[in-house]
Amino acid sequence: MRKKILAGNWKMNLNNYEANNLAKEILVNSQKKEKIDIVLIPSYIYLSNVVSLCVNRPDIFVGSQDCSAYASGAYTSEVSANMLRNIGVKYVLLGHSERRSYSFETNEKILQKIHQVINNKMNVIFCCGESIDHRNENKHFDWIEKQIKETIFYLSAEEIKNVIIAYEPIWAIGTGNTATSSQAQEMHAFIRNLIKSKYGEFIAKSISILYGGSCNPSNAHDLFSKNDIDGGLIGGASLKSDDFIQILASFK
Ligand code: PGA
Repeated sequence: MRKKILAGNWKMNLNNYEANNLAKEILVNSQKKEKIDIVLIPSYIYLSNVVSLCVNRPDIFVGSQDCSAYASGAYTSEVSANMLRNIGVKYVLLGHSERRSYSFETNEKILQKIHQVINNKMNVIFCCGESIDHRNENKHFDWIEKQIKETIFYLSAEEIKNVIIAYEPIWAIGTGNTATSSQAQEMHAFIRNLIKSKYGEFIAKSISILYGGSCNPSNAHDLFSKNDIDGGLIGGASLKSDDFIQILASFK
């Protein structure tokens, strides 16, 4: 009943030519699959172009890596959710650990952005994840619960339907140390239970929860075969079309 999703977070990589090529290669080499949506998440400046390349593929969507917490006005350099919606963006990535640490984004700020995205009828890919210290101290469940309670739990039952959760342990991002499929499954089941405790079973079962953090062609199948892992948010391996396409072929 819930969607399988494969999202590629290109981060601050690729020049214009490379971004164009990567999108084209993914378009050519991926076949439309009934139950899997693809989300390409390039830098702001490539969004319009990637949206127009994907126009004939109803299974491929374009996402932004961020948006402003404000609706409009004197916020030099910021990009509003409404502007993104206007050019055909359907998803916005929020709460990524790189934004939380390098740009000091708090749960409060992330919640403001979530409201902007939902008010503009787009979908949020909400990231949460613990540090290695939290895990070693056995505080990882408490940490994720706090991140979720201080953000998406403020949404109504109607609004939460527009949220996809991405569990991304910080120690696994870009390190090659992926979580084992049982570590990931354990946390995904915990997150789903949390959603159930607030929004009920039906909504909990319909929300897609993605895994992110050094997911690649060799570990994707094992991760995606777990009951509560509905796909992946891929960083490094999304920059090579071959790897991304192989990950796409890893769904059970
Ligand atoms: P990674 O990044 O796949 O390179 O670990 C994932 C992410 O940060 O979304």
